[in-house]
Amino acid sequence: MVYGDKTTRVVVIGTGFVGSSYAFSLINQNIADELVLIDLNKEKAEGDAMDLNHGLPFGSPMKIWAGDYADCKTADIVVITAGANQQPGETRLDLIEKNAKIFKIIVGSVMDSGFSGIFIVATNPVDILSYATWKYSGLPMERVIGSGTILDTARFRFLLSQYFDIDVRNIHGYILGEHGDTELPVWSQTRIGSELIDRYIERYKPEAKKADLDEIFVNVRDAAYHIIERKGATHYAIAMGLKRLTRAILRNEHSILTVSTYLKGEYDLEDLYIGVPAIVSMSGVEKVIEIDLNEEERQKLHHSAQVLKDAMRPVFH
Ligand code: 2OP
Repeated sequence: MVYGDKTTRVVVIGTGFVGSSYAFSLINQNIADELVLIDLNKEKAEGDAMDLNHGLPFGSPMKIWAGDYADCKTADIVVITAGANQQPGETRLDLIEKNAKIFKIIVGSVMDSGFSGIFIVATNPVDILSYATWKYSGLPMERVIGSGTILDTARFRFLLSQYFDIDVRNIHGYILGEHGDTELPVWSQTRIGSELIDRYIERYKPEAKKADLDEIFVNVRDAAYHIIERKGATHYAIAMGLKRLTRAILRNEHSILTVSTYLKGEYDLEDLYIGVPAIVSMSGVEKVIEIDLNEEERQKLHHSAQVLKDAMRPVFH
């Protein structure tokens, strides 16, 4: 593993649906040596640790336990999934006040342990809580990463792969902006294999309609509402996205992922966390990738940024 022979440790704070699904996903991939579960409800964390440990004979050696904040001191990564989640009909931004208060306590407790690793934030509204984590922790911005639009991008690629009947791994495209209602698809740079999508349609699927593509994006944007209406929460796909992010860090993969990261002039935006493609490695967010956007996409990204800034103002200023 990366960091030479050092034992790698991941701490998960919040073992609800997302945290426990992430833990399950992580132990199935032999990505870290140690996994610590922390929850306000210690018994829940203990139960999860027991259950996960009992699966180890079917997997790879790993140490898993229900711990406390002191265990964060030597952690490489602390993943925060704790907080209130959306009820049917609620937007992600509706959660801001409740979860910002919880984050002040959580991030303060992690930092009191002497933690100096990388935070991954998954709780909603993720862009604003990533900003909060950066502020509350005092860590360099590259070491606070939000899951951003990693999941929206995955949903986009999946739905396009179904529509075009092409392996999802050959669909390349990004969802940028808020992980929420103002996010946007970058159609002008979306590719199937190496062909731009418009060109691909012209050559191989002339019957494709713009209305179908618009509907695909709406289904991406509203996916969480549709899932929450049916089962109360979303957790498997985000857990896999968090695992992908963890692996990019611990294995120093230099992966380009759409994460929520701090902008300081990129895309002509500054002083906010928002979902954009970035290179992720053992140092965290190494570089923001500024893809070419057309004018409509640029305006939508700026609108999304403005909505985030407006939502943030009462909490941080
Ligand atoms: C999701 O998009 C609710 O943010 C969560 O699945």
